Amino acid sequence: MKQIKIKEKTFSLYIGSDQIANAVKNIANSIHLSMSGKCPLFVPVLNGSFIFAADLLRQLNIPCELFFMKLSSYEGVRSSGNINVSIDLDNRVKGRTVVFIEDIVDTGNTVKYLYDRAMFLGASEIVFVTLLFKPEMYRQNIKISYIGMEIANDFIIGYGLDYDGLGRNLPDIYKLE
Ligand code: IMP
Ligand code: MG
Repeated sequence: MKQIKIKEKTFSLYIGSDQIANAVKNIANSIHLSMSGKCPLFVPVLNGSFIFAADLLRQLNIPCELFFMKLSSYEGVRSSGNINVSIDLDNRVKGRTVVFIEDIVDTGNTVKYLYDRAMFLGASEIVFVTLLFKPEMYRQNIKISYIGMEIANDFIIGYGLDYDGLGRNLPDIYKLE
């Protein structure tokens, strides 16, 4: 089993890049069917979703726009509960179909924050896409319309996800031992 070490923690290969690419392709196909004609505003949530968003959007051959949001809530290997916003949405979401792109949905605190923010700014439709979803941890009623893969409550890194800022550039996904 392939392993890597980051700051004294050991991570083992969990989801390979082929399996990730397959999940991305499936999400793109479903979005394609339901979103063509809506000219959605895609909002990747930085930092974690930068690789997923880049791969997903290049598979989508529909008219769309892009705007980034930047938030953070994780400290080390768990959700801190507080959300810090460093790039916010603005009123360009008014009357639009807004599609948030997340790397992973864990407790759903972030999703709740994003939903309320887009509602407040007058989005006409709010949709969530995530590559990974931890169903055991999710605490919200907000629907996640597109999910690449459901995973157990493990801490993972790679393909955009980090541990203490490191590991985002790994092409595969690893889990903490
Ligand atoms: P939530 O607000 O608890 O749903 O957490 C969402 C955010 O926490 C994600 O967008 C990630 O940035 C981060 N996060 C959650 N789980 C993990 C993980 O297993 N590894 C790395 N980051 C994670
Ligand atoms: Mg994130």
